[in-house]
Amino acid sequence: MITQLAYLGIASPAFQEWRDYATRLLGAVVAEDGPDGAVRIKVDDAGYRVAVHPAEQDELRYVGWACHNETRLHEYAAELRAKGLELHAGTEAELKERQVAELYWFADPFGNRHELVWGRYSHPNSFFPGRPMRGRFVTGDQGLGHIVLIVPDLARADAFFAGTLGFRLSDRVKSDIFNLRFYHCNGRHHSLAVAEIPGVTGINHLMLEVESFDDLGTAIDLFSADPDREILLSLGRHTNDLMTSVYVQTPSSMQIEYGHGGMTVDDLTWVAGTHDLPSIWGHHRSQAYLDGPPGIFREIGTADANETTEADR
Ligand SMILES: [Fe+2]
Repeated sequence: MITQLAYLGIASPAFQEWRDYATRLLGAVVAEDGPDGAVRIKVDDAGYRVAVHPAEQDELRYVGWACHNETRLHEYAAELRAKGLELHAGTEAELKERQVAELYWFADPFGNRHELVWGRYSHPNSFFPGRPMRGRFVTGDQGLGHIVLIVPDLARADAFFAGTLGFRLSDRVKSDIFNLRFYHCNGRHHSLAVAEIPGVTGINHLMLEVESFDDLGTAIDLFSADPDREILLSLGRHTNDLMTSVYVQTPSSMQIEYGHGGMTVDDLTWVAGTHDLPSIWGHHRSQAYLDGPPGIFREIGTADANETTEADR
């Protein structure tokens, strides 16, 4: 069973720009570079949480999911193999790079790489924000935050993420325009969401949550004053997780949702519902958003999704 979003790996020609961006605007810090020169970003005591690898184009490289411990990971791996999922053991070099005790990876039905790990390295009391912040990032037993993946077929994604992997449905947002499903694997309302866009797959955004409302306000001030990094969706509050947030540009095409005050869910009592709008108020789209919906996308034919593998990327 997956219990946390542990880390995220993307690649981008603008990887070097993440050093200043992550520190000065987000309040994160830069950890030691990866072996390929990847910029690695730290938002808490974990060695790092986001890696931005050098590449000629923006790519979603991997999503890291943590299990509680070695026993649970082995049980889960056996369960997934019994369901027919092809799991690959991580190499020694991969374990070292990801700073984990053990790793298995697999491709989702759309060819995106996911990694299952336990035993991530962390360094207690090692995180101090890269810019003045009143609080810290909300991580701990809620994991890094959440990601929203783009999928060409929502029903197929749901069969995989809920049916095969065991993510629990929190709710959905469905209207003539929107079609998303949100899943939890711990108390955070969602660690994963999937949004349907025909013919493509990839990542829309990573959400980072801050403890203090003031730190969200400060981020808005900093992004508003920065000529290079636009706020793509204005301050708003989501209907489902009640997160108050802005969506901001990054040096790459993925967005970051910078949020505060998200709700938690309890599996004993939680009942999944439907919302017909994503936001109670706000989250208005900027011209930059309208000029090119942000995200790291890769074209994929629905028919050939089965054949797409890690090697194809
Ligand atoms: Fe989000």
